[in-house]
Amino acid sequence: MNDKKYAVTVAGGGSTFTPGIALMLLEERERFPIRKITFYDNDAERQETVAKACEIYLHENAPDIEFNYTTDPETAFTDIDFVLAHIRVGKYAMRELDEKIPLKYGVVGQETCGPGGIAYGMRSIGGVIEILDYMEKYSPNAWMLNYSNPAAIVAEATRRLRPDSKILNICDMPIDLEEKMANMVGLKSRKEMNVGYYGLNHFGWWYKIYDKEGNDLMPEIKKHMASNGYADALSDTNQHIDESWKHTFQKARDVYAVDPTTIPNTYLKYYLYPDYVVEESNPEYTRANEVMAGREKQVFGACRDIIAKGTAKDSGFEADAHATYIVDLACAIAENTMERFLLIVPNEGAVYNFEPTAMVEIPCIVGSNGYEKICQGSIPTFQKGMMEEQVAVEKLVVEAWIEGSYQKLWQALTLSKMVPSAKIAKQILDDLIVANEHFWPTLK
Ligand code: NAD
Ligand code: G6P
Ligand code: MN
Repeated sequence: MNDKKYAVTVAGGGSTFTPGIALMLLEERERFPIRKITFYDNDAERQETVAKACEIYLHENAPDIEFNYTTDPETAFTDIDFVLAHIRVGKYAMRELDEKIPLKYGVVGQETCGPGGIAYGMRSIGGVIEILDYMEKYSPNAWMLNYSNPAAIVAEATRRLRPDSKILNICDMPIDLEEKMANMVGLKSRKEMNVGYYGLNHFGWWYKIYDKEGNDLMPEIKKHMASNGYADALSDTNQHIDESWKHTFQKARDVYAVDPTTIPNTYLKYYLYPDYVVEESNPEYTRANEVMAGREKQVFGACRDIIAKGTAKDSGFEADAHATYIVDLACAIAENTMERFLLIVPNEGAVYNFEPTAMVEIPCIVGSNGYEKICQGSIPTFQKGMMEEQVAVEKLVVEAWIEGSYQKLWQALTLSKMVPSAKIAKQILDDLIVANEHFWPTLK
C-alpha cells in the first residue's frame, strides 16, 4: 500500500445519501486514507443542512480531515483525486412527477424505468456532463465514480459525448442482491463468490455463480428464488428496507419464473409485470412520496438536530454499510487491486451477440489504469430480445437530448416495453415536456 492520502469531492452534497457515505468514508480510512472531503451541490440551502451537520461530525471524529462545502465549481473540483457523484437533477419534486404522469395513463411510473426513467435521463445528462467537465478542468487526473441515475442513460450519454473521460458508472442494486445470494448459500459476503452477469443497468441477469473453490451455487440460489424470490434472504445493509422494497424482493420470484436458467435483477419486474406494478401503485402516493416522508425526513431531521445541539454525539447518523463498494472501487484505482466489479461499460464484443456500442453491465477487473472487461460470451434469445429493445430506448433518449429531437423522444417512449401505443407515448411525452420545461433542452 502507498502512503498517499486522498481528496474526495461528493457531488450532490445535499443528497440523502451524503451523510451515510461521509461516515462510511471515515470508517474505511485505514484502507482508503483521506486528507480532504468537499461537498458540492447547486442548491446551497439544501446542501448547507447536510454539510453543517457533517462538519460537526467530522470535527468531533476526524479533525485531521480538511472539510469544505461549496457551490463554486472551482473550489469544489480543484486539487482532488475522486468525485463521488450522486446528483438528482430536479430533486424529489421532479421524481414525483416522473412517477405520477405515466400513472395517469395507466403506465408504470418509476424513477429509472419506462417513461419516468426517460424523463429523468433527459434532466440528468446535462448535470452529469457538467460535473465531469468541471473535474477535468480543475483536476484532470481525477476519477469520477458515478452512481447518479438513470445510470444506463447517463452512461450512454458519457460514452457518446465524453468517450475518453475517467468515469466509472456503477449501481448498487447488484451489490445488495449478491449479498442476499451469499446469505442464501451461507456465505458471509458476496466477495466469497465469482459471478457471470450480463445486461444493461437495472436490466440484467446472473447466469453463473461459484464460490471461491469453484462450487456451483446456482442450484441452491434457484431454490430460494423459486419459493420466495429475494424476500427471505438477509443482507447487511440499511438500504432497501421499506415495505415497497420487500414487495419487489418477493416479486422477483415471478420474474425468475420467466427464465429459471438465470437469476434476475429486481428491476426487471417493471418490464415483465407492468400490469401488476400499475395495479399495486397508488397514483396519488408513489415511491417519491414515501422517500420524502421517510429517508429525506429522517436524514434532514438528524442533520437539524445535530446543528441545533452543536454535537453529533448520539445523533442518529449511521455509516452506509452497503456503500463500502464505493471505497472498494476507489481503492481498486488508487492501489491497483484488480478487484472485480459489475460496471456499466461499452460492450465492444464482451457480450458477443449484442450491439457493440451498447453500454452493458458486466463484470470488469479494475486497477489504476481503469477497467478490463470480462467477456461474457453469447446470450440467449429472450434476454437479447429484451436488451435490444431497451438499449434502443436508451440510445434514442440520448440522441433526442443531443439533437433536441421531439421525434426521437417520442420513438423512445413508444419503444419502451411499458408503453402500450404511440398514442399514449405522445400523451405522456407532451405532459412530461410541460413538467420539465426548466430542465430539458427545447425539443423541435
Ligand atoms: P437527493 O435529491 O436527496 O440528492 C441529490 C442532490 O443533488 C440534491 O441535493 C440536489 O440539489 C443535487 N443536484 C441536483 N442537480 C445538481 C447539479 N446539476 N449539480 C450539483 N448538484 C445537483 O437524491 P437522493 O435520493 O439522495 O439520490 C441521489 C442520487 O443517487 C440519485 O441520482 C439517485 O438516483 C442516485 N442513486 C443511485 C444509486 C445507484 O445504484 N446507482 C443508488 C442510490 C442512489
Ligand atoms: C437501488 C438502485 C438505485 C436507486 C435506488 C432507489 O439502490 O440501484 O439506482 O436509486 O434503489 O431507491 P429509493 O429508496 O430512492 O427508491
Ligand atoms: Mn441502481
